[in-house]
Amino acid sequence: CATESMEAMQKNTAAPLIEVDPKRGLVDKPFELKVSFLPPNKPITLYSQLEREKNECWEAYAHYVSDSEGTVRVNQQESQGGSYSGRESMGLIWSMKPHPGNKTDPRFRKDEVTVPDLVDISVFDGHVSGDFLQKKPLASVRVERCYMAPGVKRVKIRQNGVVGTLFLPPVFAAPGPGPFPAVLDLWGAGGGLYEYRAALLAANGFASLALVYMSHKDFPGPKGVVNVGPDYFEKTFQILQCHPQVDADRVAIVSLSTGAMIALFVTTEVPSINVILTGPYIQPLSPSIVLIIFILNRQTEKIRLDENGHMIWKYIWLPVLEDPAQKVAVGKLQCPLLLVSGEDDCCFPVMEFAEDIRKMMEAAGNVHLLTSVSYPGTGHLIEPPYCPHSPFSKMAIPTRKKAVVLRWGGEPQLHARAQEDSWRKILEFLRQHLIPDQSVTLKKAKL
Ligand SMILES: *[C@@H]1O[C@H](CO)[C@@H](O)[C@H](O)[C@H]1NC(C)=O
Repeated sequence: CATESMEAMQKNTAAPLIEVDPKRGLVDKPFELKVSFLPPNKPITLYSQLEREKNECWEAYAHYVSDSEGTVRVNQQESQGGSYSGRESMGLIWSMKPHPGNKTDPRFRKDEVTVPDLVDISVFDGHVSGDFLQKKPLASVRVERCYMAPGVKRVKIRQNGVVGTLFLPPVFAAPGPGPFPAVLDLWGAGGGLYEYRAALLAANGFASLALVYMSHKDFPGPKGVVNVGPDYFEKTFQILQCHPQVDADRVAIVSLSTGAMIALFVTTEVPSINVILTGPYIQPLSPSIVLIIFILNRQTEKIRLDENGHMIWKYIWLPVLEDPAQKVAVGKLQCPLLLVSGEDDCCFPVMEFAEDIRKMMEAAGNVHLLTSVSYPGTGHLIEPPYCPHSPFSKMAIPTRKKAVVLRWGGEPQLHARAQEDSWRKILEFLRQHLIPDQSVTLKKAKL
């Protein structure tokens, strides 16, 4: 460090300075990045690197040219190439990919939410495109991206057979000290316990339970198979609703993929549950993974392969649309539903499903409860904002010995936009329907 500044002094130039604001923030919040004290009109490369658990390294880079004052402002200037181009204030995060030397699964999923992601951002001389770890940067800064907001409580749940983690908002978080509105958080058929979205929902003022329903060491049953029925979700709701810091009348579900299918089914079949339902991806099937596997095996000729041999599953589900016996009776829904669909979803025909859901709800007279949004260039895995995009990844299927590689779809830049916009819409939808003061105002406004 001392040598670096000596060199800079000898050349009579100050070393460039990278400023990130905030340097420590929640992963769903953007930052501003500025490089100053560069020569005017100077080509530079910004490089971001994140070391994850198991020594895996994710990275992105982008080419910029400083302005006449020797400054680069990432949220105002355009990247001229690299992992992304154009004006993208968070491109150095969402365009990250695993280091080519790492044989890691290309799906970015946070395992340990109590530990922030540490992202090192460096500036290099000129427009360079590789071997960053062998080169010496002009300057670097470390940014902390947190999943747990200060004051959020994380409670392990192993109760009545229910397995999950409950996150409680800080006591002074809006809209007050609680009891809080609550969210049940369901992920897809990859199973396991993933807490990152629930942690972020807690930071936004919702008591949130990341729930396991398959494939976890503390959970009975074979790996890769859902063998719980509606009673499991009833028990889960009881735990949530009996919690002293949860308002029993204000419970929602946020879900993705198979989790969304379960959410729809539970909400139609367990009438005692008064929930608001929201979330990316819906497949109108009954929630039995056995049925999914059955359809999958019967329809294998409908599996398509992309140019890399990754499986496209979208077409195998289409016959479901013709068979009411295989669909959740969404006409029975009595709570608001937000559908978020990626128009390039390669895993499920979500656009066809969304239209079918709309028709079923219209026929049943409850279509006023439906809000549906879709995004072009967006794939199946719509995650919280700035999460790196995974066009494909491995998935274990119980009836197959080897994991298959599924194509999820999406184009990185448009997918990143959709993640940002849909997260805002999900939070707005939850607030609108779960926070009473606001809904009172809304009702008044309508009269
Ligand atoms: C991943 O790549 C980085 C950069 O080359 C290397 O330092 C690290 O050891 C690799 N990790 C694994 C698990 O291969």
